[in-house]
Amino acid sequence: MTTAQKTLRSVVLGVGCYLPSRCVSNADMEKMVDTSDDWIVQRTGITQRYIAAEGETTSMLGLNAAKAALENAGVAASDIDLIIVATSTPDYTFPAVATQIQAGLGLQTGVAFDLQAVCSGFVFAVATADKFLISGSHKRALVIGAETFSRLLDWEDRTTCVLFGDGAGAMVLEAQEGEGTAQDRGVLTSHLRSDGRHRAKLYVDGGPSTTQTTGHLRMIGKEVYRHAVGMVTDVMLDAFKATGTSAQTLDWFVPHQANRRIIDSSAEKLGIAPEKVVTTVDRHGNTSAASIPLALCVAVADGRIQKGQLVMIEAMGGGFTWGSALIRW
Ligand code: ACO
Repeated sequence: MTTAQKTLRSVVLGVGCYLPSRCVSNADMEKMVDTSDDWIVQRTGITQRYIAAEGETTSMLGLNAAKAALENAGVAASDIDLIIVATSTPDYTFPAVATQIQAGLGLQTGVAFDLQAVCSGFVFAVATADKFLISGSHKRALVIGAETFSRLLDWEDRTTCVLFGDGAGAMVLEAQEGEGTAQDRGVLTSHLRSDGRHRAKLYVDGGPSTTQTTGHLRMIGKEVYRHAVGMVTDVMLDAFKATGTSAQTLDWFVPHQANRRIIDSSAEKLGIAPEKVVTTVDRHGNTSAASIPLALCVAVADGRIQKGQLVMIEAMGGGFTWGSALIRW
């Protein structure tokens, strides 16, 4: 007698998020640099962003998001055996933010580590957690995107400082048995890519092994924009092909929230209907690795994303790195 081969899937049990209390509007930005609400809204769609308070660190934001996700999932912290934090703005060069969140949750078991893929970090972290869970080595993962990008900004450079914000979002994933079809709940597929030749288009001009300073974010915005739409649509097409799904069968498109124009162009290129696009860049700005879980959190809280629906997440960021993950909620 043969037994059926079981397929493990990483199923989403819940999401949570956290934003600092200080909201900075475009009018506030006008007082800091030579810019205007009109310019920012027209080029990016951003109207406001949240900025962490002095002394409020990435691990603090991440811990709050993690607690919210555990509550939303109905899971105790002690049930988590894997924590992955996607961040490019750790509290310290080391130890990892993930281990600080692990301690903050009162955990002394399991494994916790950080992953750095800039704005693609959350997609990379979901894909990584998925590999652990479907291998059977771990049972329940907390995947967190947490950033204090405000600390990397040159507040005198109007071309970058108006674009970014701080925040954190988290997701609880659990290994569950599926049938191995696209009807299963869970992460159905993920596709990650990188190309280090693009380093100079988006980078931070400091670090422990170069300047021994934190440095500031530098970006050639036009160059990033030029590559973004093609790269993210490529990896979404990979996800559709791998699962036999399509833009038409998608319920929600939850892209990295960098820029309204990139989001709209990507959706249009693939024929994703505008009403299926979850957009939070207007309220949050670009929060790098935190932007997707923040957007997921908003769309779950307001009742848009429902169990059983097909959700595409994708991102592109410094490196360049880019990737997609298709999830049946
Ligand atoms: N306020 C007013 N004027 C500004 C500002 C500002 N904040 N910033 C730049 N300008 C001016 C420039 O100086 C320039 O003036 P000039 O013509 O007199 O020289 C003019 O506006 C146009 O500047 P561009 O850089 O050509 O503006 P562009 O249309 O390319 O828009 C933007 C800039 C919004 C950054 C765009 O290039 C973009 O969205 N790029 C993608 C960036 C992005 O999304 N990065 C994040 C993705 S990866 C990640 O998330 C880390």
